[in-house]
Amino acid sequence: MMTSKKKKKITFPEWPIHDEAEIQALKNVITSGKWWCGSPTNPEGKHVWKFQEEFAKFHRAKECVAVFNGTVALEIALSALGIGLGDEVIVPDLTFVATASAVVATNAVPIFCDIDPDTLVMDVNKIEDLISERTRAIIPVHLGGNPVEMDRLMEIAEKHDLKVVEDCAHAYGSIYKGKMAGNWGHAGTFSFQASKVLTAGEGGAILTNNEELADLMYTLSDCGRKKKQLSYQHFIHGNNYRMTEYQAAVLLNQMKKFPAQHELRNKNAKYLREKLNAMKGISTMKPTPGTEMLGYYIFPFLYDPNEFENLTPAQFYGKLIRWKIPFQPSYLPLHQLECFKNVNLRKGIDYSNANWGGKKSSDVNFPITSSVIKRIIQFPHQILLSTREQLDYIVDAISSLHS
Ligand SMILES: Cc1ncc(COP(=O)(O)O)c(C=O)c1O
Repeated sequence: MMTSKKKKKITFPEWPIHDEAEIQALKNVITSGKWWCGSPTNPEGKHVWKFQEEFAKFHRAKECVAVFNGTVALEIALSALGIGLGDEVIVPDLTFVATASAVVATNAVPIFCDIDPDTLVMDVNKIEDLISERTRAIIPVHLGGNPVEMDRLMEIAEKHDLKVVEDCAHAYGSIYKGKMAGNWGHAGTFSFQASKVLTAGEGGAILTNNEELADLMYTLSDCGRKKKQLSYQHFIHGNNYRMTEYQAAVLLNQMKKFPAQHELRNKNAKYLREKLNAMKGISTMKPTPGTEMLGYYIFPFLYDPNEFENLTPAQFYGKLIRWKIPFQPSYLPLHQLECFKNVNLRKGIDYSNANWGGKKSSDVNFPITSSVIKRIIQFPHQILLSTREQLDYIVDAISSLHS
């Protein structure tokens, strides 16, 4: 049981955080009368263009294309890299559904890769076994901000002539072996949805160091237009995926708040890691060797149910609810999702090569994700903006569950 001292009411930081700067920035967009960005040839508002520049600069990448969410960012990157009908794209089995649904949206076939039990990200040792004559790309996801072993993954990609789109929805601020997440692959995509460490409620961006690819991604995101061409000339089939001025105005201000938050998250993650790992039956997500900075979108740890009253994660979360400790349940492995048991997801696509669907979706084919999901607990990143007293309250709560 928790001590009475620890039962006193504790409230945790909420997310998102804003101040007068975001309010003023939104007012400025409204009063300017420039409510959209226009096109590079005929710019209207200035925020989207400025955001693209700042975001690329922050990552030391050449180009950024801002779009309206992280799912379309993935779709555009895949399409621009030529991924399409019947191609296979390797994705981790543990990720948000968008990583795989973006592949489905391009009429390609996602292939699920099991994860590493310590780092919880795609196990690069398992990639080559999944490569077939139809494989065209890999989407590594830096889950919870923890980088995939990108140097090894890029070697594998090069050897098999595969494209790489890093899904950095969780990894704003992560650095692996001297390079920022999003700057390793042919393209890197980001999400600014409300729960993310950089947010405007919704939003997305794509980074690349290839100018030609960036131009194509811009064209796909702006109705098939080309830079420096007439606005009613449409060169290829594209769509309107443009970021709004409102999103960009908020993001530019959130970017300024990020460094202090990032530092605090890392300091508190270190403290929480030490405290929790000292408890028998707990191991926190291990940063991938070579990680120089972790973006910490979530703080996951694995527990041994034998040491914790045989609680399931749902029961564990039930206890956290009682103590008003915020949590963020893990995704289900993709192979367990109802949509990926259906072997006829889209009309006219041959899914016979997929390693999911029907009996192939069995847990025995994905032993690590299937095991991890039964013993994972996750905190959202705002927990890492807590005070020491709040962190100690969490540690005390968890230790009170120890058998
Ligand atoms: C790993 C991952 N990829 C892609 C996305 C999609 O981003 P969005 O929600 O902005 O479409 C998310 C969003 O939650 C995500 O967590």
